[in-house]
This record gives sequence, C-alpha cells and structure tokens, in this order.
Amino acid sequence: MKRQKMRALAMALMLSTALPMAAAHAQAAATSASKPWMNTKLSADQRADLIVAQMTQDEKLTLVFGYFGSNQEKPKFTPHAEARMGSAGYIPGIARLGVPPQWETDAGVGVATQRESSDPYLERTSLPSGIATAATWNLELAFKGGAMIGSEARSSGFNVQLAGGVNLARDPRNGRNFEYGGEDPLLAGVMVGAQIKGIQSNNIISTIKHWALNGQETNRMTVSSNISDAAARQSDFLAFEFAIEQSNPGSVMCAYNRINSVYACESDWLMNEVLKKDWNYPGYVMSDWGATHSTAKAANAGLDQESAYTFDKQPFFGAPLKAAVADGSVPQARLDDMAKRITRSMFAHGLFDHPVVKGPIDFAAHAKVTQADAEEAVVLLKNEGGLLPIAKTAKKIVVIGSHADVGVLSGGGSSQVFPIGGMAVKGLGPKGFPGPIVYHPSSPLKALQAKNPGATFVYDDGADPAAAAKAAAGADLVIVFAHQWAAESEDYSLTLADNQDAVIDAVASANPKTAVVLETGGPVLMPWLPKVGALVEAWFPGTNGGEAIARVLTGEVNPSGRLPITFPASADQLPRPVIDGDNSKPELIVDANYDIEGAAVGYKWFDKKGHQPLFAFGHGLSYSTFGYSDLKTSVVGDKLTVSFKVTNTGKTAGKDVPQVYVGPKGPSSWEAPRRLGGFKKVDLAPGASTTVSVTVDPRLLATFDSKAKTWNIAAGAYEVSLGASSRALTAKTDVTLAAKSLPVSYDGK
Ligand code: BGC
Repeated sequence: MKRQKMRALAMALMLSTALPMAAAHAQAAATSASKPWMNTKLSADQRADLIVAQMTQDEKLTLVFGYFGSNQEKPKFTPHAEARMGSAGYIPGIARLGVPPQWETDAGVGVATQRESSDPYLERTSLPSGIATAATWNLELAFKGGAMIGSEARSSGFNVQLAGGVNLARDPRNGRNFEYGGEDPLLAGVMVGAQIKGIQSNNIISTIKHWALNGQETNRMTVSSNISDAAARQSDFLAFEFAIEQSNPGSVMCAYNRINSVYACESDWLMNEVLKKDWNYPGYVMSDWGATHSTAKAANAGLDQESAYTFDKQPFFGAPLKAAVADGSVPQARLDDMAKRITRSMFAHGLFDHPVVKGPIDFAAHAKVTQADAEEAVVLLKNEGGLLPIAKTAKKIVVIGSHADVGVLSGGGSSQVFPIGGMAVKGLGPKGFPGPIVYHPSSPLKALQAKNPGATFVYDDGADPAAAAKAAAGADLVIVFAHQWAAESEDYSLTLADNQDAVIDAVASANPKTAVVLETGGPVLMPWLPKVGALVEAWFPGTNGGEAIARVLTGEVNPSGRLPITFPASADQLPRPVIDGDNSKPELIVDANYDIEGAAVGYKWFDKKGHQPLFAFGHGLSYSTFGYSDLKTSVVGDKLTVSFKVTNTGKTAGKDVPQVYVGPKGPSSWEAPRRLGGFKKVDLAPGASTTVSVTVDPRLLATFDSKAKTWNIAAGAYEVSLGASSRALTAKTDVTLAAKSLPVSYDGK
C-alpha cells in the first residue's frame, strides 16, 4: 500500500514537471526561430550582430542614451517608471526584441543608493574602501568581495555595476584614492581585476573607470592631465590593461578630466586607439555623469553611450545623434558599432540569459565577507615593544576619538553605501553632495569591550587635547582613533583635520603606551609618530569595520595588510607639492603636468629622487616575523620566473606578502630604479615554510616605444630583489635578459 502511494506520488510529480518542460521546449523553439540571438550556442558577437540587424534606427539610439535613475523621487529625470529608485542610471530596454533595460548602480564598495534614507531597501553591505582591499594583496578576497557586492546589485535589480576604479594614486591627496587600488599598475590592476571578475560572476556587467588619468578631484571637470604616450602606457594605462585582461569588464567609463587638453570622452587616442584598436577591447565606453561634451566629436572618438544626460550641458546622443547620423557627420556604421558593443557585452555577461530579479539579501553571510576583507586590509605600521596585540593583563584601556564608541568612517560621494542599521552619527558633513559624512554602526569600542571583559574601558571623544590627555594618563593602554574623511569632488590635506594632531600629541605625551588607529582614505602626515608606541592603518573599513579592527588589536587576527601607496614624510617630496587648480572655481582651466613624474608614480618617484618616505609602499608588520631564502630566477622564452622560500620565523601563525621587484642594472631608459614584478600572499604556521614562484609580466621588464608601438626589453643584466616592502629588499640576484620586442596587443597570454 505504502509503495503504491509512493508510485502514484512519483507519477504525479513526473507529470507535473513533464508538462511545463514540454511547454518550455516548445517555447524555446519558437523563441529561437523568432529571436535567433537567444541561441546560447552562438558567440556574444554573433548574437549581437543578429539583434542589431533587426533594430530600427530609433532602437539603436535608445541603447546609447542614458537617464539618471532615481526617477521615483525625481520624475523629471526620466519618464520611465521601470527605472530603479536610488540608482545611478537607466537605459530603457527594447521589449520587442527582448533587450532588457540597463539598470546601473554605483560602485566599488557595494550598492550605493545615492542618498540617506530610512527605507531599508536602500541599506546595503559595504566592503572596506577599494584601497583597503588593495592593501590585502589577496586576490581571492578581492574576488569574493566583488562577488558579494555583485550579488547585492543583482538582488537589488541592477545589471550594471559602476565598479572597478583603477586610477593610479599619482597624488596621495586625491579625494578618490580610497575608491582605487593604490599607486602600482600591477597591484592595482590585478586586485581591481579580481574584484570585477567577482562582480561579473553574477551575470551582470562591471564598469572599469575612470578612463583615464583622473588623478585629482580639484577642478576635475576641466583639469588636463598632460602626459606622453609612453609614460601613460607604462603607468595608468597599464593598470587598466592588467585589470581588463584579468576580468574582461563589459564596459569602460571615460573620465571627467581632459588629457593633453582633450576631454577623456572625446579622446580618439584613449577610446579608439588605445582601448579598441591596440587592446582589441570588444565592450562599450560609457561617459561619466556629466562627462559628455559633444555629439559627433565624442561618437567618432569612440564614446558608445552617453550616461545620465541630465548631468551634461544638453543631451548629445538623443535627437542630436540622430541628426548627426542623418547628415553623415557620424557614420551609420559607428552607430551600429555602438549598438553592437553594448548588446555584445549584455550577451557576454548574461544580461539576456539571466535577467536580474529582485530578491532577498543574506546580510549575515555578506557581513562575514566584508569583515574578512577589512581584517586583512589592516596595516600594522609600527609596533614598538610589542604594544599590540592588547596584553591580557591590561586592566584599564582608554579609547579616544573619531566616534569609535559608535562606528567607523566611510568615504563620501557617489560610491557611498548607506549603512545597515542606519547612520551611527547623524548630521555630519555637507548637506549636499558629497555629504553626508557616514559612519557605519560598527563600534570598535564595543567590540573591544566584548573581547576584553576583564578590562575597564573609558571613552573620550577627543574634542579637547587636554581632556583627552587627562583621560589617557595612567591607563595600561590608550587607543586613539584618528580620521580623515575623503570624498569625491574634492582633494584633501595631508594634515589631519579637527586638531587631531594636537590631541594625539597630548595623549602620547601623557602616556607612551598609546596606539593610533587611522581611518583614512590614504596617507596623512604624522608629526606625533615618534611619540606613539603603535600605529595601525584601518582605512575606511566598511560595514563590519569595528569588529575587524578589534580582532586585529586583540590578536585574534594577525595583521597582514601591506601599503598599496607610499606615505610621504612631507608634501615637498611629491611631484607636485601643491595640487594644481582651485576647487572654488569649477570652471578654471587647469593643467596638471604628469610628465614631471611620467611613469614614476608613487614609490618609483621616491626611489628615483632618493626621498625617504614616512612609510614605504609594500610596508606592513605582523605579530610574527618572516624570513626569505633560496632566491632563484629562470628565464623561459619571454617569461622571467622568480622563486624563493618564505619561512614564518616567529611564534604566531600569520600571513605574509613577499614582494619581488625588478630593475635594470646600470643606465637605462626606465622611469625609476625598480618596479613591482610580482607578489604572493602566503599563510604560514609558526616555523613553517613554503616555496613561492612568481612570473613577471614581460611588460614590467620593458619600456614602450610609441613610434614602433612595441614593448621593448633591452638586452642586459637586471636585478631581481625580494623583500617585505619597496624599501626592505633583503635578497637580491642578477639575471640576464635577451632583447625582445612585443606587440602593443600583447595581453599576457
Ligand atoms: C562618478 C562616477 C559614478 C557616477 C554615477 C560620477 O560622479 O565620477 O564614478 O559612477 O557619478 O554615480
């Protein structure tokens, strides 16, 4: 009887699934006949060709013209009800052909909802800032973080994430360095590439940006970044090149600034020549919000999509583009190519085959992803006498400043993710863009208290140096939190704001057992450095930042972050001691001479000039120690491989980042004595060793010849150095390389 019942049940189940399956097959057959581009066996190129061939002129024009997305609140921006609330942009679909709308959201740390709101729909998980993820030097974490924020984008109904900021940190004061991957083309390129790969693993498009040389926020709409072709290709372009090769982003965003006097979104050199011709990039270029300045000039230079046209002086790609194609100033083939590139990326990245569906978000699981990233991002810069981790015997701990009692700081502007649980501190910063100043409600103080139940904690807000010093005197440990808010549209000073230098100085004078935790978007000056016992850079650490910081301070996590950017000892050491321009005059035409340093960005400039930085690129301590040995090289074809042994010589398990630098021996045309050639994050138990091998991309051994359009490796002797930072090179060996020339299209394969 029981068996019979089960058979009946099984039969019913078979029938219930068989009928819809048959119907689905029939529907698929009908679809492939009427919509052959839905055949997933065809390549993205073939599918795009098929669909574009069916489009009317107006349908093509629809695809290349974007609206600002927050239409529910600001209906004047777009007449389309299907645009998503709180989003950056929207491009209508073509229902007749099954082209989905493009729903665009910022940005690199998560789904940025454009403004503060009490609507929980707008709260999302925030990763630590981009520079923090770069500080992990951990490709796997970068991928996982990308996969996490991409899944939140998808669950929020977005299929284009405006993420993948990879502008090199040419100036430590750049207000958007926090969004990017630091100053080195290899590190920034592969870390941001891994993040993009993670985002796109959700069948959505990621947009690498801002193409290119968007090196400062001061006068960002007018400034011209002036640089030679070769220097650009050996620096900022190379970061994009590495990231694009790694991750194949569906789109590229051209920047606000001009380059050699030409707007980035009108630059034939940037879009047509370098990106599409030299690198064979098959995706599309969208403009930054307000970065389109013309119709025919932009379209013919390679711009494929005008974003959120209300940010531009006038619509350039709507009716004006239609007229320009009609009168021949933009060839029909160019419009067809725009439509092809856009739909090709939509096919290649799953937008047709896996339409986005709004759904629940597993915030608890995502908190773990962002916390893991934040923990590995923390860089222990100084630790005298083992002040950290916090001693179990510490009975009185004083915590000072930066709202550490309630939360952790984040960077401002379009990338702002609004906190789960609401703003930890309300009413801070500018009322309009790029404000407000947002603290995520993850309290370092509370996390520290929970982990040190035997200690008494005192909190002082750090507003007054004398009061803070009084609170600090006699404590077993003082932890001062110092912050420097950074935000899109403005650069910042290297000097800590709000009298914080005086507070730290007074506290450290009152109690030498002072540890400073920085929450900054990048470097700051530290006149008090000799007085403090320990120093930690926690960046803008994201949704679970307080917990992550506490775990590092208590030693539950052994710090393993390394600086992706040089901390200068003074602004005088920089290629431009004073930033060009005046942000109070937005229309000012400004030139930034990037040929001063050329490709010698960051540590390369410091090495070339012999400047002693405050903290070198690649620097970061651990609660353990690591030793390097057995440095060897081998050359096979055009590939230099470097191998060595890393040993955890301390008593604590931990991660290390051995770094390989390469440079010519003797005179050369290189921009600087050495470049980062490779690195690896390793995890070692006390006493354990591992053998690491890294292969150096030949472009990092070459210089670019703009006339011949080749990467040239000069024959001769090169030095291969291994160390814990660009200034702590403890093992060296020489290698001889043969002359070699690689085409401009070389992509590492
Ligand atoms: C920023 C971009 C961003 C866009 C959309 C612009 O202000 O520069 O990075 O993706 O806004 O919000």
